[in-house]
Amino acid sequence: MSEIDELKKALMKAESVAVLTGAGISAESGVPTFRGADGLWRKYQVTELATPEAFAKDPELVWEFYNWRRDLIGGVDCNPAHNALVELEKRIPHFTLITQNIDGLHLKAGSRNLIEIHGNIWKVRCTGCGEIKLDLSPDMGLSPKCGECGGALRPHVVWFGEALDQDLLQQAVAASRNCDVMLVIGTSAVVQPAASLAFEAKAAGATVAEINLERTSQSDHMDFTLIGKAGRIVPKLIEDWP
Ligand code: OAD
Repeated sequence: MSEIDELKKALMKAESVAVLTGAGISAESGVPTFRGADGLWRKYQVTELATPEAFAKDPELVWEFYNWRRDLIGGVDCNPAHNALVELEKRIPHFTLITQNIDGLHLKAGSRNLIEIHGNIWKVRCTGCGEIKLDLSPDMGLSPKCGECGGALRPHVVWFGEALDQDLLQQAVAASRNCDVMLVIGTSAVVQPAASLAFEAKAAGATVAEINLERTSQSDHMDFTLIGKAGRIVPKLIEDWP
């Protein structure tokens, strides 16, 4: 039996599935990954733009970067991997999708039980009153202000050096510890604490599988490593279910 068929069998039996996704799942939609050959980090000094210090020093430069990303992400569509996870969710009694992506493509595809642990680029947060709002404008301007209190708005995303929302992280850890199967899709799995979720699942006895273009530092600990494009492999996992 092929690895895909074996993993499919484990999924069909599973009561509870957790999925962790990273930038690789959106690559085929046209969203640049961070660390790859065409990665965002080759074009931008992300660590100098996506930080609270950068925003304090030059908010207009930070908004210029996020407006560029909004414009880019606003023009792309979900791909077969996002769509296949929506279908998988319908077939599994307890399903949790944890994403490190801020692009909102899982929501757009229709995933329901979704934890966006790094935030969402389409949300803004007031640095004054803390109000969080959805704003789908492709261009927020260079110094958007809060409609409630006039404070400076910032993207509602987790920046380098910032802590994750502890409630969301706890939900993600609980889902990882309680699943029968965990899929880790399109992430280099180097950024903590997301990178440790697969170990939480494995330690609790789950079958853990990775889908990536290449092997990662976690491959040796995986029960399955499926090498290839997420848009080709993930749909295969839901083909021909009874
Ligand atoms: P990376 O850019 O680090 O990794 C993307 C992974 O996707 C790599 O392992 C690629 O091999 C793989 N990949 C690329 N195209 C693929 C495809 N079509 N199918 C399957 N796999 C593919 O992105 P992340 O792991 O998501 O955090 O990065 C994690 C975090 O680092 C991001 O959320 C961001 C960044 O710092 C914050 O901004 C807080």
